[in-house]
Amino acid sequence: IGKEIIHFEEIDSTNNYAKKIANEGCRDGTVVVSERQTMARGRVGRQWESFTNEGLWFSIVLRPDLEPEYIKIVTLAAAVAVVEGISEVQGIVCGIKWPNDIILNGRKLGGILTELSAEPEHINYVVVGIGININQDKNSFNAEIKNKATSLRIHTGETVSRVRLLEGILTGFDRIYSIMLQRRTQEIIDSWSGYSVTLGKEVKIVLKNTEYIGLAQSIASDGRLIVKCNDGVIREIAAGEIQVRGL
Ligand code: BTN
Repeated sequence: IGKEIIHFEEIDSTNNYAKKIANEGCRDGTVVVSERQTMARGRVGRQWESFTNEGLWFSIVLRPDLEPEYIKIVTLAAAVAVVEGISEVQGIVCGIKWPNDIILNGRKLGGILTELSAEPEHINYVVVGIGININQDKNSFNAEIKNKATSLRIHTGETVSRVRLLEGILTGFDRIYSIMLQRRTQEIIDSWSGYSVTLGKEVKIVLKNTEYIGLAQSIASDGRLIVKCNDGVIREIAAGEIQVRGL
């Protein structure tokens, strides 16, 4: 991963560019990184702030030679790679909020947006977009996320090298991707669970028309979150947002 790195000063979204070159047939492990993005996207249709020098904004194109059932876990695998990379380079162990928010001191340090190519029965490529807040200070964040976001600099008091961090995360990614390619899904789930700030906690699941409260119990082999809800029903959550009590 990262044998080929494409660098931009500015782009709309590294995920968009990664999907474009993936459709044109770029190789497995190609990385697209940009100093800033003008239309970065977050999960569930949100925007993502990404200004110059403030963070690490990049996307990885993967072409795993795997059946779809083994690919669903990629989004959890990516979160593990990010946590391990940050830990290796900075010595800080972050938590993961399901499915893949990177959490430091109860605040969001980074996020991951995974996008799959169109045909579900034959997944041609996966784009994993990663955004990590690095050198923002407290006043950099807009009002909406001010009380929810953090950066590595806010935590360490130092300016952090984005290049070293990218290298660390790509190394972490190499390790976890090879486990994924060997279909050792449970090992990925176990690593993810070790960093989880969700399992064993009370969570609120917010769906279109309803909300459920329950205890987050475990992760299914396709990455779904298994929640024992207060109405006694066990639900498996595939996508969307959850709130974790106390976070
Ligand atoms: C989230 O909502 O938590 C996911 C945020 C993902 C942001 C990254 S930044 C690089 C890549 N390009 C995008 O447009 N989004 C992702």
